[in-house]
Amino acid sequence: MDQNPRVIFTPSGKRGNFPVGTPILTAARQLGVDLDSVCGGRGICSKCQITPSFGEFPKHGVSVGQDALSPWNAVEARYHEIRGLKEGRRLGCQATVQGDVVIDVPPESQVHKQVVRKEAMVRDITMDPATRLYYVEVAAPDMQVPNGDMERLQTALSEQWQIGEVRIDLPVLRKLQPALRKGKWAITVALHKGNNDAHERILDLWPGFFEGRLYGLAIDLGSTTIAAHLCDLRNGEVLASAGIMNPQIRFGEDLMSRVSYVMMNPGGDVEMTREVRTAINGLAETVADQADIDANLIMETVFVCNPVMHHLLLGIDPVELGQAPFALAMSDSLSIDASEIDLSAINPSARVYILPCIAGHVGADAAAVALSEEPYKSDDLVLIVDVGTNAEILLGDKSRVLACSSPTGPAFEGAQISSGQRAAPGAIEHVAIDPVTKEPRFQVVGSELWSDDPDFAEATASTGITGICGSGIIEVVAEMRMAGLMDPSGLIGSRAQTGTDRSVPQGRTHAYLLHDPGDENAPRITVTQADIRAIQLAKSALYAGARLLMDEMGVDNVDRVVLAGAFGAHISPKHAMVLGMIPDVPLDKVSSAGNAAGTGARIALCDVTARRKIEKTVHEITKVETAIEPRFQEHFISATAIPHATEPFTNLASIVTLPKVSFNVASGNGAAGKRRRRRG
Ligand code: FES
Repeated sequence: MDQNPRVIFTPSGKRGNFPVGTPILTAARQLGVDLDSVCGGRGICSKCQITPSFGEFPKHGVSVGQDALSPWNAVEARYHEIRGLKEGRRLGCQATVQGDVVIDVPPESQVHKQVVRKEAMVRDITMDPATRLYYVEVAAPDMQVPNGDMERLQTALSEQWQIGEVRIDLPVLRKLQPALRKGKWAITVALHKGNNDAHERILDLWPGFFEGRLYGLAIDLGSTTIAAHLCDLRNGEVLASAGIMNPQIRFGEDLMSRVSYVMMNPGGDVEMTREVRTAINGLAETVADQADIDANLIMETVFVCNPVMHHLLLGIDPVELGQAPFALAMSDSLSIDASEIDLSAINPSARVYILPCIAGHVGADAAAVALSEEPYKSDDLVLIVDVGTNAEILLGDKSRVLACSSPTGPAFEGAQISSGQRAAPGAIEHVAIDPVTKEPRFQVVGSELWSDDPDFAEATASTGITGICGSGIIEVVAEMRMAGLMDPSGLIGSRAQTGTDRSVPQGRTHAYLLHDPGDENAPRITVTQADIRAIQLAKSALYAGARLLMDEMGVDNVDRVVLAGAFGAHISPKHAMVLGMIPDVPLDKVSSAGNAAGTGARIALCDVTARRKIEKTVHEITKVETAIEPRFQEHFISATAIPHATEPFTNLASIVTLPKVSFNVASGNGAAGKRRRRRG
């Protein structure tokens, strides 16, 4: 028998020769193969599962016999009896090399496993979380060696896991002695790698081998909504997601009105900080309940947010962000204790990481979009717009990336719209209007059926038809333009002008009746002239921001557009283009990325290397300030027309013919488009 058989690992392809009797886990470690272990090879954790392959492998130049590994041992038998090992699996720390062998490491046994993202643009997230579990056996105290339990734990971590100096907070230190004694000198520690601080830190500990899992929260803290994703820190799986309205809305709908509130009400920032922290605690409890996990096992939280939200979360007065030169208190990433920002719903020692901001108006949310969509790796020129109350816009390719944020206001999120609402069951999300009859049909969240389907009423009986969500409002306004119900200036025509009874007078303007339930207890859903104006303001701000970046880049066209944002995946590219939200490109060059900022937060939660990457990248992104740029205003005014006053939109014209209608001005119409925008 060859005394140094060949061991080949798949899928990595790493290989080497090892003495007979070498455990597979040891061989994997020596070759740098990604094989997990929490118990350090003691046969307790089962994380090291592998699958040996037998037979002829001409590609690898080996022939693997059934006796290539040591026989099934008592530890494996016991584990199989209690928990069950999948057919063909072995424990890598128990099976030893006896002959040439090919070993497959299944994805769940890889520490840095790749997790495929579920959203529209499939990409992988590498798992390398900042906090991991380690099982250690600690020497019992000895009167001859007068060191403490913590020092012996430190030694054990160093010997068994090659971990350097670690720190421990007092509340966790208090748990150490009882845990060590209960665990008969064995414990499991949750160890945080340390972000910008060099030292590793014990965040929590349990007696013996801890069977549980650790969790993390990725939070997208927006001006209008706050979304949280609860992730399993072993595999990145999203176990629960929830969203709520940002309670700061009562202090002002957009960012600048919140800053003004602070300027005019001393102490107002403290109030807003308290409100948002309370809301985040509530959200953490909600997702933990949904996933049925102990919120105390949430050890990590990552935030992405715009600069004003960033400051208010941290309890920093945001007034400097309300005036040029828009100075941030700190633009670098932050790594702090959850307790420092009163996150009491999760583990008291949990760590919080906040992505870096790009500039005073271009926040950590834009950095998260960059992390998720990686424009700096693109061969062609890509425009990424993350639609929200404040839109984050990135334009670039491999050579250069520009970023700005644009004050779109909350209309795209259904706020400031008369029948607007969040995307919840019952909200209209897709609309089609017949260009001849001007009759609408629509779909609501929670049902696949269109409203002209005979079964629609029954399918929506439990939710009702309650309002229009963000993607619905974009579609209905674009459809109104395509059906000739509204002219390029955004005016809704009268009944006589449009030929439909659905055009109903409302003061000196008109509204389009999208849905009449025929029941006074249910809401009539209309699109009013004021709704159209709010959408015009929002889309003009978005377009003007994109156009400003194009000017800066010296281009008139982009190669492709990525729509992101909480409802980015639901926006119809055609409708977005009819509205003139985005520059004119071929429709097949418009894609959706879902909630890119939220995805960026999840990537940073699951992978510490990604944190380093984005910290470096933000310094290479050129920020463009929209608030002080006169051309922004010019672009904004031209963009109020639908789709645009001066740009030809030739790609759009090749697929849609927009009616040439012009409705006579009733006084009071048409002024809003010339209103100056506030930031928001
Ligand atoms: S390493 Fe823990 S069971 Fe093998």
